[in-house]
Amino acid sequence: MTDVIDGNAVADDIRSSLEDCIATFEDAGVTPGLATVLVGDDPASETYVSMKQRDCEEVGINGVHVELPADASQDDLNSTIDELNDDPEVHGYLVQDPTPDQIDYREVIRRIDPAKDVDGFHPENVGRLVAGDARFKPCTPHGVQKLLASANVDTEGKDITIVGRSRIVGKPLANLLLQKADDGNATVTVCHSRTQDLAEKTRNADVVVAAVGAPELVDGSMIGEGAVVIDVGVNRVDADTEKGYELVGDVEFESAKEQASAITPVPGGVGPMTRAMLLYNTVKAASEQEG
Ligand code: GUN
Repeated sequence: MTDVIDGNAVADDIRSSLEDCIATFEDAGVTPGLATVLVGDDPASETYVSMKQRDCEEVGINGVHVELPADASQDDLNSTIDELNDDPEVHGYLVQDPTPDQIDYREVIRRIDPAKDVDGFHPENVGRLVAGDARFKPCTPHGVQKLLASANVDTEGKDITIVGRSRIVGKPLANLLLQKADDGNATVTVCHSRTQDLAEKTRNADVVVAAVGAPELVDGSMIGEGAVVIDVGVNRVDADTEKGYELVGDVEFESAKEQASAITPVPGGVGPMTRAMLLYNTVKAASEQEG
């Protein structure tokens, strides 16, 4: 029987332990604060940000939401960032990506106070992660690590193939899984659009992580028998539903499940974990700033 890993259940456990932590803060008169900044009105980003705010409310984090119009300038956004950097009640914040074309997202990331960079995107935090001294692990890679641990997957010495080399998922996850500590110690292969014979790289892996943003790219024929499959993809594809679309992962679930010993679904796998780890980083930021 294939284990379908329940990301909602693991995320619930993490949220419960954070609630205990947050109660301790409350006793000391401190409420951890998370701000989200959204520039423009991208519908998917609006959904993500409102879910992050709802999560804050549920666990007792003070959620602050800042919205800038789609034609906001870099200076406008820089001013918002400076205010958040100076606000002692905001322990962590993020600027939702993507931003409109007139915004240089790299400049945005560099301007965020690294101590409040709960996404873990600032160059200082990326450097610390690569050096094996992460301050904030980026939320999705950290969530994937927690999911593997929850399914009792021992990654030590295993072959892990990551499909996708993004700044947000593929690269930081490869670094984390490579490191000695924290469920790492794996042999990691990172594949991308120019990889020759992708199927050979995935078929020979003990763990396949698909994080490429291509609907159902990885199917059962590309999965070795008994492998663990983690699907990071969230793709909107046209469908005859009320909303006119449905969400599918980067993995063709049914055929991959036939082969896998454990697999994450979409939705309900990695997505809830990403959100839980954002709350985790916010509580970590608060404890470092208030400590
Ligand atoms: N857009 C998609 N994922 C993310 C994320 O993890 N952080 C931010 N800031 N924007 C995103």
